Formats: sequence, structure tokens, C-alpha cells
Amino acid sequence: MSTEIEFLERLDRPELRDSSVNSDHPMRKVTRQAAFEPTGWTLERAGKVAKLFDEMAETWKDKDFSSRVLPLLDALERGGINSGGVGLELGCGTGAYSTLLSGYFDSLLCIDISFEMLARAASSEGFKLRADGANLPIPTGSVDGLFCINTLLFPDEVDRILKSDGYLVWVSTSGNQTPIYLPPSDVFEALGGKFSGVSSEAGPGTWSVFRRR
Ligand SMILES: C[S@@+](CC[C@H](N)C(=O)[O-])C[C@H]1O[C@@H](n2cnc3c(N)ncnc32)[C@H](O)[C@@H]1O
Repeated sequence: MSTEIEFLERLDRPELRDSSVNSDHPMRKVTRQAAFEPTGWTLERAGKVAKLFDEMAETWKDKDFSSRVLPLLDALERGGINSGGVGLELGCGTGAYSTLLSGYFDSLLCIDISFEMLARAASSEGFKLRADGANLPIPTGSVDGLFCINTLLFPDEVDRILKSDGYLVWVSTSGNQTPIYLPPSDVFEALGGKFSGVSSEAGPGTWSVFRRR
């Protein structure tokens, strides 16, 4: 499938990144299954993923997010994003990016499948909800901006919940070393070629913004 992605030149100094790091991470397989094999995402799998992240929640909040935020900032700056409306941060984890995102939207919904992650997120930013990204309790065509930062992609739900002029922001904060990772071309393909994108890199990560064609 030919892609329709415009790659913008990065504005900061390129970082040399060894793409073999994490290329065999177990979450890579789960990421591809969620994106390309909708029937492969079962209740059992959802339970296992929730448990895995529940167990990581205590240490997750202490990670250093100072450079990890750079690709998101660049996406917000150069991805053609207008502030306002309804934002949804899927897989928000402990909310490292929720404060920044809440400043962009009239209302921000922060969703995660892991209760323990949500329990450690700051309570002041965004409305928090425990739910599975594969089956979102969100009305069809109601979201302006969907943010997937280092989390799984569920293409049918992306297509369903976004407004006709809505957009998906896909961020991998460690670029091609991110455990839950799909390159922009694979996101394009998983979305069935219905969306076109703009993409670039900043700091240690990569970002893409996809809109309906
Ligand atoms: C790698 S962590 C990233 C957390 C946060 N976005 C960050 O970058 O710090 C992935 C997050 O996605 C959540 N997640 C995984 N599968 C999910 C699903 N099906 N629905 C909602 N959240 C999910 C996990 O619980 C976890 O909090």
C-alpha cells in the first residue's frame, strides 16, 4: 500500500538510534496484533496487559519524562493541531503528558486499562476512566484529538470515535526503540489507508498526526 505521509525535517540535532534495541520486545507482537488482527485482542489478552502495567505502575511515575515530552511538543507545534474541543489520551499511564494536553482542550479524557496506573495519575488534570481502547465507552464521531503515546493502536475505534475532521496523534517517545512501537507507515496501513499523515522526530522520539483523507 503506498503511503501518504509527509515527513518534516527535524528541527533539533538527530540522535543516532540503534533500531535493533527492543525490536524483539514481547510488546511488539501484541502491538502488531492489536493494530492488524482485531480478533487477536481478546478479554484474556486485555487482562494480561492490564496486569502487566498494574505491576509497572509504582515505578512508572518516577521515570524521567523531560526529554520524552519533546516529540509531543513538536507534534503540537508542527502537526497542524488547533486547540479546543474534546481530547482523548489513550493509555495515559500515570499522566506524564496529561497536564500538557489538558491545556489544549476544552475537555480531556484520560483513559487507561490499568487501574494502578490511573490511581497514580495526578487527579487534577483530565477526566480519568478505566477502559479498554479496543472497546471505548465513547460516542461515535465525538473526539477532536486522540493521543496514543507509547500505547496500542485500535484502528476501528480510531475511525469510529474521531469526528470527521478529527485527528490521531501517534507518539513513540523513544522512537524505534519504544517497546510499543509502529513506524508511521504501519500506522497508515493499519488505518486502512483512510488517513494521511505528517510525521517527524524530536528529542529521542518520533511523532505523526493522521487525518482523514
Ligand atoms: C507504555 S505505557 C505508556 C504510558 C504513558 N502513555 C506514557 O508514555 O508514560 C502503555 C499504557 O497503555 C495502557 N494500555 C495498554 N493497553 C491498553 C488498552 N487496550 N486500553 C487502554 N490502555 C491500554 C497501559 O496500561 C499503559 O498505561
